[in-house]
Amino acid sequence: MAKNIVIFGSQWGDEGKGKIVDILAEECSAVVRFQGGNNAGHTLVVNGEKSILHLIPSGILHENKKCYIGNGVVLDPFVFFKEIDNLSLCGIDTSPKRLGISNKTHVIMPYHCKLDAAREAAKTGSNKIGTTGRGIGPCYEDKMHRCGIRASDFKDIALLKEKIAESLVEKNILFKALYNTEPMQADEVYEILKPVIERIIPYLCDVSSAIENMDGAILFEGAQGIHLDIDHGTYPFVTSSNTVSACAAIGSGCAPSDLERMLAIVKAYTTRVGGGPFPTELMDETGSFLQNAGGEFGSTTGRARRCGWLDLVILRESVRLCGPTELVLTKLDVLSGLKEIQICVAYEYKGEQLQYPPQEQNALAEVKPVYETLAGWEEDISSCKSRAELPENTQKYLARIEELLGVPIGMISVGPDRIQTFTK
Ligand code: IMP
Repeated sequence: MAKNIVIFGSQWGDEGKGKIVDILAEECSAVVRFQGGNNAGHTLVVNGEKSILHLIPSGILHENKKCYIGNGVVLDPFVFFKEIDNLSLCGIDTSPKRLGISNKTHVIMPYHCKLDAAREAAKTGSNKIGTTGRGIGPCYEDKMHRCGIRASDFKDIALLKEKIAESLVEKNILFKALYNTEPMQADEVYEILKPVIERIIPYLCDVSSAIENMDGAILFEGAQGIHLDIDHGTYPFVTSSNTVSACAAIGSGCAPSDLERMLAIVKAYTTRVGGGPFPTELMDETGSFLQNAGGEFGSTTGRARRCGWLDLVILRESVRLCGPTELVLTKLDVLSGLKEIQICVAYEYKGEQLQYPPQEQNALAEVKPVYETLAGWEEDISSCKSRAELPENTQKYLARIEELLGVPIGMISVGPDRIQTFTK
């Protein structure tokens, strides 16, 4: 019987999770998103057609699969309906029969986006987090502050209006006094939301109960990456949710024991968008080579991604935090053409060699990567169909990663299309 699967990014996001979710959704009955919001961007290429989804689980492209947005997600209703409208134009069924939103999912409100933008604009230089500006942080803050708007509040207009008014009291003080920007009125916010309120209600459901009663396996779709986790990532240059695998249970409403196969998605090199330390970053022509060959430009904000060598230290930490049963190596084809490839196996910090990232806030910016050099390969591997078909040096690269992390590589991706993927 197919097992439940958790898919998570093991670096700083953009590892190519969307494509793997899309492939593995085939063997599951439902796909659930459990954290993050439309800060994510999953690019999928099916039969040469490119689609980018920010919120709706990638499983929606498969007929007969149920898709759920769990309680751990923050949902921008306008983005949700924009995606629904685009998918409907492509003939994809996005009706509430296939797609559900947890009653407990928090809603990104217009004032969250405004606050996100105002805060980032007020920060300077290296203090900028470089958020996606989608209101993610302020929405999670309200959730923790216990004044957030949950999707089920859309069913009770009086409660919704009361909560909007209450939430704006503090925010308007910040808008006026700190950020020198126009306050927002509760009526105005309600009017903005009005077109989506009625429309969203049919999608609301009890996701916890729906997945408990599902025949067949569930795929839990993570967003961002482990090193953007609010607790375990490179704080404060992180997102505002927990991205570690255990959160698949919390963010969708199932028991931790329901999480069976844990798949760590690992890009064959490293990228990062936004601010924050990045020990193996390459500021030279190799960095530009990876950026161009890998098309490393954000699917959400269009920003160029910073590129660098594979960092086994941060991956070791991801293995420790998330317990992957297998690794999925993506974008391996991008490395073709490099004479030599480096992998970072440890950090040098204050005269010591570290196997795991240091935990103090500014320490990661001070470490020096310790590299091991492997021979590269010239061959185009994008049409290889098995590990055995890969050039000898590519196979050595894979074997060294498995050896250093102690986790087998179960799946390999050598191009953007569904068919450019093979299992071990
Ligand atoms: P926020 O999630 O918009 O608050 O942004 C916080 C940090 O996380 C910024 O550095 C973003 O660039 C980064 N980030 C958020 N979502 C993603 C993602 O899906 N991929 C890569 N980076 C992300």
